[in-house]
Amino acid sequence: MTQPFSLSDIRTWDRTHVWHSFTQMAEYEPWLIERGEGNWLIDDQGRRFLDGVSSLWCNIHGHNHPHINRAIEEQLHRIAHVTSLGMGNSTTATLAHRLLQHSPSSLLHVFFSSDGASAVEVALKLAFQYWRQCDQPQPQRSLFLALGQAYHGDTLGSVSVGGVSRFHAMFDPLLFDVVRGPCPDSYRVPPAFEARQATAGTNSDASYEAALASHYLAQYEMLLEEHTDRIAAIIAEPLIQGAAGMVMHPRGFLRGLRELADRFGTLLIVDEIATGFGRTGTLWACQQEDVQPDLLCAGKGLSGGYLPISATLTSNKIWQAFLGPYEQSRSFFHGHTFGGNPLAAAAALANLELFETTHILESVPSKAALLKQLLEPLRNHPHVGDVRQRGLIAAVEMVADKRNKIGYPWEQRRGVIACRRAIDEGVWLRPLGNVLILMPPLTITEEELQLLVKSIELGITAATGV
Ligand SMILES: Cc1ncc(COP(=O)(O)O)c(C=O)c1O
Repeated sequence: MTQPFSLSDIRTWDRTHVWHSFTQMAEYEPWLIERGEGNWLIDDQGRRFLDGVSSLWCNIHGHNHPHINRAIEEQLHRIAHVTSLGMGNSTTATLAHRLLQHSPSSLLHVFFSSDGASAVEVALKLAFQYWRQCDQPQPQRSLFLALGQAYHGDTLGSVSVGGVSRFHAMFDPLLFDVVRGPCPDSYRVPPAFEARQATAGTNSDASYEAALASHYLAQYEMLLEEHTDRIAAIIAEPLIQGAAGMVMHPRGFLRGLRELADRFGTLLIVDEIATGFGRTGTLWACQQEDVQPDLLCAGKGLSGGYLPISATLTSNKIWQAFLGPYEQSRSFFHGHTFGGNPLAAAAALANLELFETTHILESVPSKAALLKQLLEPLRNHPHVGDVRQRGLIAAVEMVADKRNKIGYPWEQRRGVIACRRAIDEGVWLRPLGNVLILMPPLTITEEELQLLVKSIELGITAATGV
């Protein structure tokens, strides 16, 4: 195909017209990715980069996968878009059915949106409205109980339940009040656990983990007691808090939250936008603790990371509260123009089909074991404070002071320096502050995992000087 504009024009437009997310545009240098092949990205210069973070945590089966491509093409020849306002289409309806078949049995209905943040907004609004319309209404339940350092997206409702101050503090005056619990961190543990952590190691000793989970849960219990019947829902990222820096919860914490929600008669929203679709080793992270949520948010990997589609799955009890004669206005007055878009739904159906036909999920434990083994030596590095992992999500945290777990000042951009070095090795990574994130497509190969870890090692040396 002839290029109608010069590459230099296009780069100028990318720098001056396109406002990139989470990017300081004053210093942005254009980098144009033109093609994808499996787990690799190819830029406008023909350079190849291993996609070490799944194009921001969403790609599952690699790029340009023929099965997903074909599904989108076939749908395109039928129709590209159908509204979900008062009508539907067979692709989206089939997706809802198949998605629920793969999800916890508590979930029987699906509300589709386009992005993760919108799926969270929907969950919050559904929970809020539920308490006003259920059989025994409790309209005083208007607060959400959220986790310390939570991240649920960048729209104002999702920022309200979020707790990453570097991203969220600016918008404080615009946000609604939230009851905030501690971050159930397995690395920066409360002082009483530090001595035991040193011998137990992070995420290894079951009784230590159970004690740590109970410690955090006790604080959630106190908050629920304090706000007894005012909590509309607890919202949590299950097992791992992504944007907080892949903070890993002690095992049993999520199940404990479910028990607390039941005991205090409130709802549990599980935000699986980052953890869903096999990354932690099960299709959903909440399945590892046998948790049946009232609402579950999915996004990112739902379409295999191909097209924007997200979903809020709900239990039947919530659905029932919205049914009634038209005149009672019990409907959910919320919608996004492209929610449930059939092209994206076709990609999502193809994604689920690949889970069924390729047995990709079954391959995660052995790949995760190899990744663990490759990362293990980094624990001895004088500036690596923590190496944490669940399934194919891993993080290596660089620290200035290992003993006291003190990070480098964020202004020093050590994570960025490390990732720049990885790029020289042909690996694309995007850090979270001092934390190097590894979240490759599930199709990553053994050789690619070795390259990934090698590039991280070189990156750490470049960033820390050791
Ligand atoms: C746990 C979690 N929830 C919600 C979101 C927001 O999703 P989106 O960026 O698609 O709005 C993210 C994005 O990183 C996430 O990690």
